[in-house]
Parts: sequence; structure tokens; C-alpha cells
Amino acid sequence: ANYETILVEKKGAVTLVTLNRPQALNALNSTVLTELIDAFAAYDADPGQRCLVLTGSEKAFAAGADIKEMQAQGFADMYASDFFKGWEKVTATRKPWIAAVGGFALGGGCEVAMMADFIIAADSAKFGQPEIKLGVSPGMGGSQRLTWAIGKAKAMEMCLTGRMMGAEEAERSGLVAKVVPAADLLNEALKTAETIASMAPLAAIANKEMVNAAFEMGLAQGINFERRLFHGLFGTEDQKEGMTAFVDKRPGNWTGR
Ligand code: HXC
Repeated sequence: ANYETILVEKKGAVTLVTLNRPQALNALNSTVLTELIDAFAAYDADPGQRCLVLTGSEKAFAAGADIKEMQAQGFADMYASDFFKGWEKVTATRKPWIAAVGGFALGGGCEVAMMADFIIAADSAKFGQPEIKLGVSPGMGGSQRLTWAIGKAKAMEMCLTGRMMGAEEAERSGLVAKVVPAADLLNEALKTAETIASMAPLAAIANKEMVNAAFEMGLAQGINFERRLFHGLFGTEDQKEGMTAFVDKRPGNWTGR
């Protein structure tokens, strides 16, 4: 597909999606959302693609939802269109995806990064939920995902002050999986994505689904959910292949069945 605000490249089994509105620091307008929904759905539907990396530019992953697009909207407009509801289509992606964040990840930019299965950050990354400074609040899940990720004390402080959090603090606080030098960000993220892409595809989906269940279920229910999915994987060809390959001391050759 030909997109206006994002670039999509297939690198082997890894899809690289780059936000591409440099003139607005990758502010997320409705075109970006429509195009991301399309690109993520295409990724999910393509059996040859096993992991996706979403990234921005060196200066900004994304500096937020597009303020100029929202400025004139009233309550009735926002409520009637259920503004931002479309992002749930991005989070419905079943296959793994990583956010590779350098520079600003503010407001909606921070929220989209937190929608990823995990974040790899450049040492230049700056996260924040500055919506309060605009007289509003997070609206794409930030108040919830940030609180799950870093706990109430820091999430509340960040939402109420709008301050930015650097990469080192973000890693220490559990917001990001890993911090790498800015110059290595894309390579490191692609390398990690290739590792994930080399795993049995159904096992990757199941692992993602069960970790995400931890946010929706109580412990006993979550452990039961995990065990049932684990049992289910024993119905796959790739379980036989993976365990046979281990015993034969060779890498697994996956069919995705
Ligand atoms: C629209 C944006 C934008 C945004 C930057 N730009 N962020 N346009 N929406 N969120 C535009 C600027 O208007 C400017 O356009 C160009 O990008 C470059 O930005 P500058 O401000 O000139 O760059 P700089 O001085 O380097 O400052 C970078 C910055 C600053 C600190 C990131 O741009 C900034 O504070 N941006 C807004 C951050 C923010 O509040 N994000 C939350 C958005 S609300 P021109 O045309 O002037 O060159 C949000 C809500 C989610 O995400 C849900 C609830 C509503």
C-alpha cells in the first residue's frame, strides 16, 4: 500500500513501520491512525511476517496526538465519533510488535509506545503525558497503561505535572525493556524483532496473549488461562518439531501449524 504518513518496509520476516510526519514531529492525526490500522492489519494477516517494529525519527517517536486537529473539536464531536476508539484496532494486533523510541514520546506518542508489546528506547528518549498542560488528559490509554507500567506514584506525578521522563529513569521504572545508544536503536530493535520472528509463530501469539492476560485477570484465573493455552500448544506440529529439534541438537524448523 502507498501511505502518506507512514513508511512500511518488509525486512525478511520483520515489518518495519516508520512514522513519517517530520514537519509535525510525527504528531498522530487521523490519517496516521487510519494508515497504522491498515498496516498493522496487513502485518497480522501476512503469514510471512512474524514481528513488527514501529519507530519514529531521531528527534521524535511522536510528539502526541495532533493538537491542531483537536483544537476546534467540542464534546459532542469527540463523543459522537468516539475519538481515539480506532486505536483499539492497533492493540488488537495478535502478533508481536515492538516500539523503538528515540526522542520525544509525548502524550499520544507515549501512549502508542505503551500499546506495543514492549518498548526499546534510545538513550535520547523522553516520555511524558503533558496533556494536562493543554487542559485535557491522556485519551489513548496513558493513564491506565502508564500506571500499570510504573505504578501510581510516578504515573500520577507525570500526569499531574506533565514532566518528561528520560530513558534511564524509564528503564529503572519498568516502562521500557531496554535502553540502547541512539545510533544503535533501529539495529537493536530489528535484531530483537528477528529473534522473536525466529520463534514458532503460534507460540509467539500464545506467549503474548497470556502475558497480556495478566492485566485483565486475577492471579488464579490468569494461571489457569496460561495452563490451558500451554496445553493447547501441545496440539501443534511446532511443539513436536521444537522438542524434537532440541533432542536432535538442531534449530527448529517451524511450519506455524
Ligand atoms: C501538532 C505538533 C505537535 C502536536 C509538535 N507539533 N507537536 N503539532 N500536534 N502534538 C508541531 C509544532 O507545532 C511545530 O509545527 C513542529 O511540530 C515542530 O515542533 P516545535 O514545537 O517547533 O519543536 P521543539 O521546539 O523542538 O519542541 C518539541 C516539543 C514540542 C517539546 C515536543 O513540540 C511540544 O511540546 N509538542 C507538544 C507535546 C504535547 O503536548 N503532546 C501532547 C499532545 S496531546 P510548526 O508548524 O510550528 O513548525 C495528546 C493527547 C492525547 O497527545 C489524548 C488526549 C487529548
